[in-house]
Amino acid sequence: MDLPYAEPYKIKVVEQLYRSTQEQRKQWLKEAHYNLFNLKSEQVFIDCLTDSGTGAMSDRQWAEMMIGDESYAGSRSFVKLKETVERITGYKYFLPTHQGRAAENVLFSALVKAGDVVPGNSHFDTTKGHIEFRKAHAIDCTIDEAFDTGVYHPFKGNVDLKKMEKVFQAHPKAQIPFVIVTITCNSAGGQPVSMANIKEVSTLCKKYEIPLFLDSARFAENAYFIKKREVGYENKTIKEIAKEFFSNADGMTISAKKDGLVNMGGFIALNDEEVFKKATVFNIMYEGFITYGGMNGRDMGALAVGLDEATEFDYLESRVEQIAYLGQRLVDFGIPVQQPFGGHAIFLDANKFVPTIPQEEFRAWALAMELYIVGGIRGVEIGAVLADRDPDTGKNRFSSLELVRLAIPRRTYTNNHMDYIAVTLKNIFDTRHEAKHGYRIADEAQIMRHFTVKMEKI
Ligand code: F0G
Repeated sequence: MDLPYAEPYKIKVVEQLYRSTQEQRKQWLKEAHYNLFNLKSEQVFIDCLTDSGTGAMSDRQWAEMMIGDESYAGSRSFVKLKETVERITGYKYFLPTHQGRAAENVLFSALVKAGDVVPGNSHFDTTKGHIEFRKAHAIDCTIDEAFDTGVYHPFKGNVDLKKMEKVFQAHPKAQIPFVIVTITCNSAGGQPVSMANIKEVSTLCKKYEIPLFLDSARFAENAYFIKKREVGYENKTIKEIAKEFFSNADGMTISAKKDGLVNMGGFIALNDEEVFKKATVFNIMYEGFITYGGMNGRDMGALAVGLDEATEFDYLESRVEQIAYLGQRLVDFGIPVQQPFGGHAIFLDANKFVPTIPQEEFRAWALAMELYIVGGIRGVEIGAVLADRDPDTGKNRFSSLELVRLAIPRRTYTNNHMDYIAVTLKNIFDTRHEAKHGYRIADEAQIMRHFTVKMEKI
């Protein structure tokens, strides 16, 4: 008999979870204006809101916290992190920031101006927000397969080169400050980008003399998928694969709260000295001096260790295969999910799950509400609420995908938790035909409204 899979770690510290009743959860949800971001964490049993900053650190990371150097300038922890970033990414220049969107803010302040266009593969909402806030446009050039949850494609995060070249041809070079490719592509379902595609994008960018940046929040998971799915990479290490894709771009931004395996942090790394100099000024203004940029010394030390741990195969296997375990249980129940499964999350296809709820009534939002009521599980809507209104027309952007994301924190929950999620969803799925109505927006912000929106039940 083949031995079953077992995690390559054991548990040293545990944290209490709180159970509640459906009646309690219905009341809490009402008080939260039907927005899961407004719940207290004790009101949640299994928290799949995000995999960002919610994972468990290792004993080696905690040990590094103790020897963190909190010097304002030139801290030892900064030097350790800078050396690690250079070894893993190959980029010469490095600026720490307090998280991913801060890295975007600093870099985009240096590079993006009104009227610009920034092509990429389904930009994350903060990325798009930082582009649109500067009166520029994010143009989605993801391959069409990404928008059909039932179609199998090993690299659904890939860029459609024809779509991208069209953008290059339609705008003068001066209006395209850079291309940003997100690995893995969160907004397309945690889907990876192939090495071949990164290289083709890089070649196209070079032809038009446009810099290429990688939004690398989940770069290690992307490298794992390349190793598992792309011919020629099966015998390379994760670190070799990562170095290879970074070498095909001019730089990166990262939210270290994902594949940095820390609770807070981010950075920019790049090769162009002029861009580095410009970004340095904004880093000092917005984040802090360039040798801490919004992070504690101890956090920089933990991040240095985290980057090394996240780029080890054994860790990544336990990580990505846990997501696949949950995904497979759902598929076995007939529940419609994005396939292949993403690297950090399972995405429920609300268009197929609850087509009985009108699209204008935010059906993915409604499904997320139900999941919380029935099981105390907190997911997040990746649909029309998150998509904000079109800045030009003011209309809601109902795209072809209405998803509920169940993001799984790293090294945090066991497969018993995955089973609990799967069975809760099966029970909802069995009664799905009874769902007729969703929600309407009562109050919203102009940009990134999903964090604070107040909803009403219809
Ligand atoms: N880029 C990607 C691909 C992301 O997924 C995120 C954050 C960011 C940038 C911004 O980083 O949160 O550190 O400022 N994603 C989180 C999520 C919030 O839940 O997917 P941040």
